[in-house]
Amino acid sequence: MKNIFITTPIYYVNDVPHIGHSYTTIIADVLSRYQRLLGNNVFFLTGTDEHGQKIEKSAEQRGLQPRELVDSVVLRYKELWEKLNISYDYFVRTTDEQHKRIVQEVFQKIYEKGYIYLGNYEGLYCSPCESYFTATQAVEGKCPDCGRDLVLLQEEAFFFKLSAFQDKLLAYIKQNEQFVLPHTRKNEVVSFIEQGLEDLCISRSSISWGIEVPELGIELKNKHYIYVWFDALLNYITAIQYMENEKVFQQHWPAYVQLIGKDILKFHCIIWPAMLMALDLELPEHVFGHGFIYQGGEKMSKSKGNVLDPNKIIEEYSVDAFRYYITREIVFGLDGTYSDVNMRQRYNSDLANDFGNLLNRTLSMMGRYFEFKVGKSNEAQLSEAELILKKEVHDLEIRIRQNMQDFKLSIVLEDIFSVIRKANKYIEDNMPWKLYKEEQIDKLSNIMIQLLETIKVVTTWLSPFMPQTAQKVYEQLNISWQEKNLYNWGYFKEGMLLNKPEPLFPRKE
Ligand code: MSP
Repeated sequence: MKNIFITTPIYYVNDVPHIGHSYTTIIADVLSRYQRLLGNNVFFLTGTDEHGQKIEKSAEQRGLQPRELVDSVVLRYKELWEKLNISYDYFVRTTDEQHKRIVQEVFQKIYEKGYIYLGNYEGLYCSPCESYFTATQAVEGKCPDCGRDLVLLQEEAFFFKLSAFQDKLLAYIKQNEQFVLPHTRKNEVVSFIEQGLEDLCISRSSISWGIEVPELGIELKNKHYIYVWFDALLNYITAIQYMENEKVFQQHWPAYVQLIGKDILKFHCIIWPAMLMALDLELPEHVFGHGFIYQGGEKMSKSKGNVLDPNKIIEEYSVDAFRYYITREIVFGLDGTYSDVNMRQRYNSDLANDFGNLLNRTLSMMGRYFEFKVGKSNEAQLSEAELILKKEVHDLEIRIRQNMQDFKLSIVLEDIFSVIRKANKYIEDNMPWKLYKEEQIDKLSNIMIQLLETIKVVTTWLSPFMPQTAQKVYEQLNISWQEKNLYNWGYFKEGMLLNKPEPLFPRKE
């Protein structure tokens, strides 16, 4: 049994969750459930990023205190995760006392190690917006937000010595092929580092909705708050009690995989690893930067009014159909699109026709021919053509294990559904109705058992992707959810009773 630590980014709570947020989380859930299925000890972490200017501003616009805003939006996230059957083990909020305390401890530790220093930040400052902008962000020397004049300002601030890790990081990424995934993203990170890393300003005096820089025993002109990304990235170790509970921390760290979207690659593949190196901690085994979900070829944005609400899709098609679409239709690692036409087609052809129908006709035949009672099995009597499914199911496992390890989720589903279609063809090829008419009951019983075993095994491999559906299938097959190793062939015994079929995915016209 291995310890497997899986993380999602922590989500900004300045607005309600949309399909993009549910994407990362669903993938993390699929991977977690898959690892649990294999018997591993999983710790699945998600949560919310609640500090910083973004949140402060958003609250102000709504006439709320930041605390009121974050508390209400967090609930929307938790509700959605419950609806989507997200099996997280811990939900971290950056406003948690534990998180805040440990972030300050870590800040102090890195300071003492000499990788944080007090310096001067120089930038173009907009005083009404209380924000700094870089020369490229400024629009003709004016504030990109309010259009007013920017002034060159200098203030004391803390810096993280990112530059000190440039060579070590580059060497690490080059030597550890599996660290940044997929490989195209690795190249992106490498070329960025090769351009040279500058030290990072990690404190702000212009905001107050954040974690205060701890008492370091030095005299400061201003009150300083920790830069929101420095605070947020540490969630991955504050949640597992770094510096406070060695046993818990050692059990989980280093993470197996940290899932992120491609937009936050630099934070997770440059800044975060450098922070870990500063703390003498190991780096996660994989950081996987997935692609974006677009709608109609466009980026989703509030102003375009094309932001997809996962709740609506779930209402129309069910949670599992949504989880299936997200993992099957979009190649993990690449950008993808959500389209209602494709969704409907996947729903009707893969889920209703192929999978739903396989279960339905198998159980109907079991009712008609055997009154839902499993008959005798004698595989020695089966010809090669009749044994073909067993071989398919056996080979499937080998491919699934390899592809899951490589995070090729859509291929895993493609493979499972190919076996499902073969099982449907198996029915047509072997014509159980003909065997029944000819009273070849032993042979018929054998063939039905091949089908039942196949359904049980493919359902088990599908269970990380579609947990609710798997449960429904198990109920119809009269199998307890708690049974172990359901992905193995050889469960059904003579005399076992099955239940009546009920449609899993009623067709949508
Ligand atoms: N708070 C930071 C992460 C800090 S992690 C220490 C953040 N939050 S976010 O809410 O803006 O985004 C969270 C995740 O959602 C990111 O991985 C991002 O890539 C993902 N997505 C947001 N929109 C998306 C799509 N349209 N498609 C797929 N994922 C996208 O960044």
